Amino acid sequence: MTKILGINSFHAGASAALIIDGKVEFAIAEERLNRVKYFSGFPSLSIQECLKYSNLKINDIDHIAVGRNPTSNLDKKIFYTFKNLHLLPNLLKIKASKNTLDDLKTLLEKECDFKFKDMRFETHKIEHHIAHTASAFYNSSFASAAGITIDGSGDFVTCMMTICKDKSIIPIHKIYVPNSLGTFYSAICQYIGFENYGDEGKVMGLAPLGKDTYRDLFLNMINYEGGNLILNKNYFTKFGNNQGIYIREDGTMGVSKLYSDKLTTDYGPARKKNTEIGQKEKDFAFSLQKRFEEIYIDLLNDLYDRTQNKNLVLAGGCALNSVANGKIYDFTKFKKTFIHPAAGDDGLAVGAALYVAQKYEVKKQSINSSPYLGKKYSKKNIQSSLTKNSVGFLYLEETKLINRVVDDMCNGKVIGWFQGRSEWGPRALGNRSIISHPGFPNMKDILNARIKKREPFRPFAPIVLEEYTDIIFERSESSPYMLHVYKIKKEWRSKLPAVNHIDGTGRLQTLKEIDNPRLYKLIKTFYERTTIPVILNTSFNENEPIVETPEEAIKCFLRTKMDTLAIDNFYCNKTIR
Ligand SMILES: [Fe+2]
Repeated sequence: MTKILGINSFHAGASAALIIDGKVEFAIAEERLNRVKYFSGFPSLSIQECLKYSNLKINDIDHIAVGRNPTSNLDKKIFYTFKNLHLLPNLLKIKASKNTLDDLKTLLEKECDFKFKDMRFETHKIEHHIAHTASAFYNSSFASAAGITIDGSGDFVTCMMTICKDKSIIPIHKIYVPNSLGTFYSAICQYIGFENYGDEGKVMGLAPLGKDTYRDLFLNMINYEGGNLILNKNYFTKFGNNQGIYIREDGTMGVSKLYSDKLTTDYGPARKKNTEIGQKEKDFAFSLQKRFEEIYIDLLNDLYDRTQNKNLVLAGGCALNSVANGKIYDFTKFKKTFIHPAAGDDGLAVGAALYVAQKYEVKKQSINSSPYLGKKYSKKNIQSSLTKNSVGFLYLEETKLINRVVDDMCNGKVIGWFQGRSEWGPRALGNRSIISHPGFPNMKDILNARIKKREPFRPFAPIVLEEYTDIIFERSESSPYMLHVYKIKKEWRSKLPAVNHIDGTGRLQTLKEIDNPRLYKLIKTFYERTTIPVILNTSFNENEPIVETPEEAIKCFLRTKMDTLAIDNFYCNKTIR
């Protein structure tokens, strides 16, 4: 048995994953455990949970794979540095960074309290974009695929195209710093006042409220020509330390100012965070998203021309742009896609480990595409958390529990739905979710007023029973990880007001019974009662990382105006004593 730990550390979305005999056994992001959103330090808790899940000790681990390699693309780094001499100190830091990774055993001794003598593993440093690609390809069912990873940057690369076949991933084209589609998107997000790491998804939701006022600016700002992305450097700052990103003392990721003063000179001051969003910001978001999609599709079409393979695997932070993903089938020749549920940098832990695992496998593994790879909690644990917090409960068998929850949904209640293992990746996919009836016109406002307190323009998402997808949406390709946005058919928009965005779209999760039987049964029961095979789903949290433990779910239930809490077979509301 080959046991491999994958790690993403000192980078956004610190995480760890355990792969045994080529299969993903467990994976979790550190933010779920230490409650620091986008934690970017060392994933010490995640590593310990990986071992605990499979009853392993550190001396059982054969390999540790890290999702970056500072010496990758060194020739490009040196060439770029000599053209931009202010970056010379960065190049010198590569040696220090390399040593940090080489010193993994010392780090594990300090952070996880392991004994040096117990660590016999071999360390592997896997180039950032190879690890991204591996996370998608090895979890897909494809024997071969065209691969593309697109992000801000990692190991000096911003986009990598690959041929993925059998066990191999062969890079065929790379785009390097500073030309980055992710940086382009993040820079404009900053300018319009969304400056936190990870705010890009909010701007994607804002875009449909605007119009294409800034078309000329964005045509001038970024182009894709001759296989290269070209950013107009007049609009961007020069990359500083670590390609514009830094880690704060609390372990969160910061991004330096990415846009140049030319933008403010030409288009006025940037919007300050938390101030009113005006038409200008909406129009910037619209034009930004449109240009992003055009370049995204250009890249994909170029990839298809280079590979002639109709299967596509995608990863990297830009692959979380579900609006762009929803257009792949209309504007490219790809017929099937697989996007890793943790497409961002948290997914590097799985990708790096799977890449190493292939060396020890006879044929391609792992095809474990379940996103439910985190912790599970015992009946005893849940019951003691409820008792400790003085929450009354009923313990119901599954059908009774589901009927009670569907009753509540039909009565317009908001339900905290917690079951089984937590989800891998940024989306709540029905195991740590807040759910409700999608047909109440005021449900979005209720959720925002009572629990989520997020920007009113942001849409809530639908989960649909997969067999009804083409009845409700204009496309029927599956989207099991909520990574595609499709148009909702006109006749359904008025029946689904709480999940129908202003442009008549929904960021859907398609659900097969085999993937989550209890959630499937819940939605099927809701459908039988209402003739709507869709529920509203949003992450179980209140301005924090998604809840991980029963204790966190109970605390969120108690401090918000959530009506019902269903944790595995425990049913609670605020009147049960
Ligand atoms: Fe990345």
